[in-house]
Amino acid sequence: MNSNYQHIQIHPNAHGFGARVSGITIDKPLMPAVLEEVKRAWAAHSVIFFADQPLTHSQLEAFTLQFGEFGVDPYILPMEDHPHILELRREPNETAVNFGAQWHSDWSFQERPPAGTILHSKVTPPVGGDTLFADGYRAYDDLSDTMKGCLNNLVAIHSARMPYGKEGLFAKETASRSMKIVASEEAEKTWPHPLVRVHPVTFRKALYVSPVYTLGIQGMTQGESTALLSYLYQHMVQEKYVYHHRWAANMLTLWDNRCTLHNAEGGYDGYQRIMHRTTLAGERPVGVLPLN
Ligand code: SIN
Repeated sequence: MNSNYQHIQIHPNAHGFGARVSGITIDKPLMPAVLEEVKRAWAAHSVIFFADQPLTHSQLEAFTLQFGEFGVDPYILPMEDHPHILELRREPNETAVNFGAQWHSDWSFQERPPAGTILHSKVTPPVGGDTLFADGYRAYDDLSDTMKGCLNNLVAIHSARMPYGKEGLFAKETASRSMKIVASEEAEKTWPHPLVRVHPVTFRKALYVSPVYTLGIQGMTQGESTALLSYLYQHMVQEKYVYHHRWAANMLTLWDNRCTLHNAEGGYDGYQRIMHRTTLAGERPVGVLPLN
């Protein structure tokens, strides 16, 4: 437990990546001093979670807005009457691959990708269905100075094309799914972001690429960028950087998209899983060097 906090208790995982927060309920507005500590814990641990916190849709929205404005969630139809909540639902008989089943940082193809994502569990399966988180800070810190020096200068191209384009994964899907996903031409757009991102709160550097949304690296041949990105992906998701988050019903998890990747593990065919998700508006990613 950490004595830097007076209003909440923090139970960090190994290496400090991910922490459970206890000592408060989150169904009502947090007092300013409590909110300040929660924000500090989020910055320190990147992924924080609160157990046993039943929330209505309105309470989830109100909790989210204490951390900033809602992000913009494209390609997925939100809940009726709750335009900022996505329901991640998979029924026991669904055979389509579970949503979010590959390493990514949410909506990194946007000019201003969401700073954070909040996921609240309603129904969780007895097996499988964990969310895996990878620590982009430590993955960066452990690289050699030579590699860091090279990556610090690079710009990666992000796009929603692979999952959400007209020729993308979801457009080609034949199995039916409960979630309403809308493939679009819009997904062909690309956006450049620094490959190494400087976090606006902690000022730490983190790797900011993912196999779902990164198409390549500016100024490199496809072969060069594929080779470098493949190396980075296998480096970033080594077990030593990964936290396996096990859900129970009524758990709320808040993660930082600016310094982590996540991957929704499947393995729960035959069981229902229902989660409610909001995103927090973010800033334009800043790199070590200014973008040209
Ligand atoms: C996601 O937001 O990518 C899905 C996470 C999950 O369902 O565990």
